[in-house]
Amino acid sequence: MIKESLVKTLSDQVNAEYYSAYLYLAMSAHADRAGFKGIANWLFVQAREEMAHGTHMYQHILERGGTPVFADIKVPPASFGNIKEVFEKVLSHERMVTERIHKIATLAQQEQDHATYAFITWYVNEQVEEEVAAEELVAKASLVADNPGLLYNLDTALAARTFIDPFAGNAG
Ligand SMILES: [Fe+2]
Ligand SMILES: [Fe+2]
Repeated sequence: MIKESLVKTLSDQVNAEYYSAYLYLAMSAHADRAGFKGIANWLFVQAREEMAHGTHMYQHILERGGTPVFADIKVPPASFGNIKEVFEKVLSHERMVTERIHKIATLAQQEQDHATYAFITWYVNEQVEEEVAAEELVAKASLVADNPGLLYNLDTALAARTFIDPFAGNAG
């Protein structure tokens, strides 16, 4: 049976993962309207991953005998600036998420909830990947600057990203 303190913090994180999905959908729409279909695709896939993260966490709460706590999902911004600024916002958002995940890991340790600690380790590792990916995109967008040809190439490259359910084949 999972402790209430962890039900609360994991439920908050389910909400935060769905907010992340909302944020990336809003960024995707912003990129799409600006004509960057490939960048919009990358952000759309990112949004789907965030929904998978939130859903997987929700399932963990239920599996452990907890009752997930629901709350309003915050409205994301509607405008994000140029492409470099979009990716800078992705990076700063992911850094914030990393801090949240680390706090959950710390709480699981304090509560000696080894099952939640083992569960959240996947997210700790995932955040390393998320930050690396976002840092690379910020670096690429900086190199590209406002060069339309290079921006077009970056957009084309990001059109190739496809959604892979990170938890496919994993009943948990
Ligand atoms: Fe996430
Ligand atoms: Fe993320």
